[in-house]
Amino acid sequence: MKALTKEFKTVFIFIDTDKHASPFDILATIDVLPEAAIIKYENVTVEDAEKIVYDAMFPRGPEGVKHTKIFINGRNFELTNEILEKIKKCMFPPFELSVVIDPRGAYTTASAAVAKTLEISIVKGLGGLEGKKVAVLAGTGPVGQTAARLYAFEKAKVIVTSRDLKRSMAVAEKINEEVKEDRAKGVEAKTPEEMGAAIKDAEIILAAGAAGVQLLPLNTLKEYGRSCRIVADINAIPPLGVEGLKPTWDGKEVIPNVFGVGALAIGVLKNAIEAKMIKMAAEEPKGIFDYKVAYQIARELISKKLEEGKGKSESGKHWLP
Ligand SMILES: NC(=O)c1ccc[n+]([C@@H]2O[C@H](COP(=O)([O-])OP(=O)(O)OC[C@H]3O[C@@H](n4cnc5c(N)ncnc54)[C@H](OP(=O)(O)O)[C@@H]3O)[C@@H](O)[C@H]2O)c1
Repeated sequence: MKALTKEFKTVFIFIDTDKHASPFDILATIDVLPEAAIIKYENVTVEDAEKIVYDAMFPRGPEGVKHTKIFINGRNFELTNEILEKIKKCMFPPFELSVVIDPRGAYTTASAAVAKTLEISIVKGLGGLEGKKVAVLAGTGPVGQTAARLYAFEKAKVIVTSRDLKRSMAVAEKINEEVKEDRAKGVEAKTPEEMGAAIKDAEIILAAGAAGVQLLPLNTLKEYGRSCRIVADINAIPPLGVEGLKPTWDGKEVIPNVFGVGALAIGVLKNAIEAKMIKMAAEEPKGIFDYKVAYQIARELISKKLEEGKGKSESGKHWLP
């Protein structure tokens, strides 16, 4: 008699720390994998996550678990990362799952923002990010912290601003511990003059502030941004983060010789990264799909675009630790 072989459906289990799971990522998953089933849990704590994952690991056996995926989401950056650490500890061979983590889009957005500035830098003949002076404005939120970390991994010298010195220093300290070098520095910047001082030497500026908050007035950029060649903004909601930089701009000059990248140009790449990460997680039997994977995908997409368009790019090899 022929042995029975079982077909397993791909199932994505959304573990969200918020009251309502984000429809953004659920819809993104459905668009990539229309056949997949979606299960969602909301208001999830670390203890809840442990129970959910143990219950998800075993019912389909060692073959079925390869088709069960976790997507960790939520506005609480620290809690989502604690949940990831707990889930890693729960899993053991052969009961391991693919786990995606992208707290309210922070990892894919930060990866897209950093990669877009890298792309413009290469296209404009300014080279890679190593050694570049970068200012991440309001770099204390989930997107800004992740972008600052990625710049530091790229060996850039990073200034992280905040309205609160201690908050900016805490982010910089954590990054320096991770890269094992003093590459990030926190500074307070509340007034246009303080913002001017923070961007004075920056060759690349990334505005990573909350939605609807202007961080960089055009006059401040004109007066203090003499070293600046690239300015990017991830806030798509007016007033925009950088005055005079439109969300759709993708390399257009904000002021002479300063090339701007707007939030919608970053958003297009963010969506492509997320779709690829979901597909990879679905295809791989196990693995952690986090900001490092998101940034590697971003670099590969940028490299491909540059190779197709201009025949010059850096290699997309995995260089993050
Ligand atoms: N383009 C895309 O695809 C995409 C996707 C996701 C998110 N986003 C955007 O990315 C941006 C960052 O997201 P996030 O979740 O990291 O942001 P967030 O945590 O809401 O805010 C980032 C930082 O902005 C500063 N800030 C908040 N209110 C402020 C105010 N009134 N004045 C000055 N600074 C203020 C805070 O820094 P301090 O308190 O330390 O000063 C905060 O840590 C948002 O604009 C969001 O809409 C874009």
